[in-house]
Amino acid sequence: MTKLINSEEVKRDQLAFWNGQGGDIWVARQSHTDITLAPVSEALLACAAPRAGEQVLDVGCGCGATTLDFAGAVGPEGRVVALDISEPMLLEGERRAKVAGLNNIEWVKADAAEADHAPYDLLTSAFGLMFFGDPVAAFRQMRVAAKPGARMAFVCWRKLDDNPWMKVPMDAVRPHLPPRPAGVPNAPGMFAFADPNYIAEVLTQAGWSSPQIERFDVDLDIAAGGGLEAAIDQTTQIGAVNSWLRGQPKEVVEAAVDAMSTALTPFVEADRVNLAAGMWLVKSQP
Ligand SMILES: C[S@@+](CC[C@H](N)C(=O)[O-])C[C@H]1O[C@@H](n2cnc3c(N)ncnc32)[C@H](O)[C@@H]1O
Repeated sequence: MTKLINSEEVKRDQLAFWNGQGGDIWVARQSHTDITLAPVSEALLACAAPRAGEQVLDVGCGCGATTLDFAGAVGPEGRVVALDISEPMLLEGERRAKVAGLNNIEWVKADAAEADHAPYDLLTSAFGLMFFGDPVAAFRQMRVAAKPGARMAFVCWRKLDDNPWMKVPMDAVRPHLPPRPAGVPNAPGMFAFADPNYIAEVLTQAGWSSPQIERFDVDLDIAAGGGLEAAIDQTTQIGAVNSWLRGQPKEVVEAAVDAMSTALTPFVEADRVNLAAGMWLVKSQP
């Protein structure tokens, strides 16, 4: 597997992003995002099948959406280590766990590629494993954390074409904005694991078993029950459209947002704005 990227540079950029604007945006938008991604958390939980008393590692836990679910599932005899590089997101996760009355979670600020992991029964992640500069080294490090007989279960995005919830808004704003550089296949970022052959290659090179990779398709309510305006708010404030609009003149932003509103209108169903999403549910063992 050719390494085309400088993993130290990736690490620096990811640290800066998730501890800066990226992390702040996720904290601000978390309650909306949680509602939108609830079907995904549910599917991940079913796929990972945590058992009472287990030791779980949630990698790239962010503000803890799945962490809280796993902590509830393993119960007071079990424990979840919530690992992330983002200070603001970890603090928000910790706050939410307190509100939920969950005290079997340890919030750890560390890079999963470098952390000294304790032995776990289950390693899991919702969209938190796609940002490594050297993914083989990172998965090798995480394998050290797996007890014999442990399981790993995670969810990641398939390609943009399989994700109209993101593609429809992007296609709508594109004519109004400067061109974006084309995505590099397998590069760290949201679509790093879009290719299932690449997932299998990374995992097996890192010493994990040949993974079971299942398609997961679901409609996501990008409005989180708040109607078209809430969908537009969310789409302009987090993710690819947000970064594309940033720094653009007011009239350009207005034209782009108008186009997005027109493009999303056919997907409005009462207070929901439902668009298809495509993911991989991946399972493997050390
Ligand atoms: C797309 S967010 C997902 C957050 C959360 N799992 C959720 O679904 O709401 C990706 C998360 O991965 C974290 N992350 C990125 N690189 C990481 C690394 N090398 N080690 C640990 N966490 C990392 C980010 O800080 C961020 O919280």
